[in-house]
Parts: sequence; structure tokens; C-alpha cells
Amino acid sequence: MIPLSESIKYAVAPLKVSANDKNQSIELALNSEGYYFHDKKWIAEGLSNIIKNAIEHTNIDGEIKIILEETPMSISITIGDNGEGIDECELKNIFKRFYKGKNSINPKSIGIGLSLSKKIIEAHGGSINVKSELEKGTIFNIIFLKVIV
Ligand SMILES: Nc1ncnc2c1ncn2[C@@H]1O[C@H](COP(=O)(O)OP(=O)(O)O)[C@@H](O)[C@H]1O
Ligand SMILES: [Mg+2]
Repeated sequence: MIPLSESIKYAVAPLKVSANDKNQSIELALNSEGYYFHDKKWIAEGLSNIIKNAIEHTNIDGEIKIILEETPMSISITIGDNGEGIDECELKNIFKRFYKGKNSINPKSIGIGLSLSKKIIEAHGGSINVKSELEKGTIFNIIFLKVIV
């Protein structure tokens, strides 16, 4: 079984170039292996949509931090940025298919990235949540339970 830490590294590798272009750092704090039955390519697709958004919506010199943590019950992946943030009234919509925020990047934005990420994570038994503050940054948290409840 491939640990989630491997899939995170696999997702981040091709995005380092665009982060470097903006002089942004992507810090990985992989505090455990995160053994969890999953499809590496699909999970990497789901993670990379979130990381791409973080790069797009964070300024030059910004910081993106990815943390993998594990408890006996669950594995948590946190993807945080110190970018422009998302307006509170938009937060409930960002996982909807074709929803593009006020800050969306034209003409690149289609609005399917996060809806696909959520689908992939839920198809693997996980859940995803977001917290954000304008001009402070955004944190996405993904939880996979290791036990069936
Ligand atoms: N890290 C982030 N910081 C600020 N806004 C974000 C971030 N991630 C997502 N968003 C907002 O959520 C919207 C939906 O994201 P997504 O589904 O990936 O669509 P797209 O990137 O094609 O616009 C974006 O248009 C943007 O407004
Ligand atoms: Mg996107």
C-alpha cells in the first residue's frame, strides 16, 4: 500500500515550477507516512487542484504549507496559504461545480477544480473543509478516518 505522504510528494513535484516562478515556497511537513488505501493518481489530482489554487491566489513570495498528521483514528492533510483569502459569503459555494469566485483568474478559471477534489476525497471515504480570511489566507483540511464508524 502506498502511503499518502508519497501521493502528496507526487502531487507537489510538477507544481514546484509554477511556485518557483512566483518565488513561493511549498513547505512539506510530512509528520507521518499516512498509510491509507487509496489511488495515488486520483488523490494526487485532488490535492493538486487545491495546491494550484493556493499558488494562483497567493502573491509573489507567498508561503504554501502542506501538513500530514496522523492519529490512531485518522489521517489529516492540511494545505494552507497566506494569500488573498476567500470572502466568507463565497465559502459555501467554492466546492460547487462551475463556481468561480470573485477573485477567479480569467480566462483560466473554469470552476471545476475544487468540486473534483471534493468528489475524489469523498470517493475515498474522506471529507474536506475550508477556513479562510480575506488578505490572511486559506486553509483546506482533508480528513480520512482509519476506522469504520
Ligand atoms: N487558495 C485559495 N485562495 C483564494 N481563493 C481560492 C482558493 N482556492 C479556491 N479559491 C476560490 O474558489 C474558486 C473555485 O476554485 P476552483 O474550483 O479550483 O475553480 P477555478 O480555479 O477554475 O476558478 C476560485 O475561483 C477562487 O475564487
Ligand atoms: Mg482551480
